[in-house]
Amino acid sequence: MSDLFSLHGKKALVTGGAQGLGRMIAEGLLRAGASVAITSRKADVCETAAAEMSGLGPCLPLAADLSTPEAAVELAALYRSALGQCDILVNNAGKTWGGPIDTFPDKAWPSVMAVNVQTPFTLVRELLPELVAAGTADDPSRVINIGSVAGMKAERLNAYSYAASKAAVHMMTRDLAGDLADRNITVNAVIPGFFPTKMTAHMRDEDAVDPKLLSHIPLRRLGRADDIAGIVVFLCSRAGAYVTGAQIPVDGGVVGCG
Ligand SMILES: NC(=O)c1ccc[n+]([C@@H]2O[C@H](COP(=O)([O-])OP(=O)(O)OC[C@H]3O[C@@H](n4cnc5c(N)ncnc54)[C@H](OP(=O)(O)O)[C@@H]3O)[C@@H](O)[C@H]2O)c1
Repeated sequence: MSDLFSLHGKKALVTGGAQGLGRMIAEGLLRAGASVAITSRKADVCETAAAEMSGLGPCLPLAADLSTPEAAVELAALYRSALGQCDILVNNAGKTWGGPIDTFPDKAWPSVMAVNVQTPFTLVRELLPELVAAGTADDPSRVINIGSVAGMKAERLNAYSYAASKAAVHMMTRDLAGDLADRNITVNAVIPGFFPTKMTAHMRDEDAVDPKLLSHIPLRRLGRADDIAGIVVFLCSRAGAYVTGAQIPVDGGVVGCG
């Protein structure tokens, strides 16, 4: 039992791992024993975050703006030369855009779809040789795509391209899971509900949690670092080796109880 959730010897890439959910995930993987590369668009932010997390284990900063597939190709090459082995890829970096339908701009579509859907796909494709080399039938390599409750049910957030992009992430996860199972790679979607990060700051009225938001969540609280780290560590560990193609809400019941 003691090593059921251990990630010792594993190497991981967490996009957007310098802050928010990505950082919670990176810290969880480090605590479980993995070496972790994190990305941020800003080199200094990435370096500071990696230095802060290095007390937990080896953490490597890789600056990358994932707005284009070319950038994802570059990141894969950077990762390859820095860490080589890739047991775990967490596609976490994400972008949102909210606005009333009457004025919702066209430019809110390609940029959101690029960061949320296309670059995760490109990263999987580019890191396939490493993922294939790392996976075995008993211990597959892992791809985890971070989706959203907004891609599963109509949350009325006026985030049209974001919700559509996350629904696409969920479907792409299932498609990839089916195609990569015989190469010993599992692919799962983790679907967060409401976690206090920069992306959801506008929903929280400064730091006080809006009672209307809480009443929408069956378990009546926002998500915490352990909630998101726990599911990702589970999926990446021996305990999660038999799970693929799953879409797992971590949302206090928003999807499941709705
Ligand atoms: N918070 C929630 O309640 C919630 C709910 C459902 C799903 N999610 C999903 O969780 C993931 C993380 O979001 P978050 O809540 O942690 O928000 P956040 O704190 O705003 O983080 C967004 C992350 O994405 C990265 N990113 C954004 N645009 C990028 C780009 N063009 N190139 C590279 N990286 C980029 C950011 O990196 P930089 O360091 O460069 O800024 C940052 O690490 C996203 O996929 C989001 O959709 C969050």
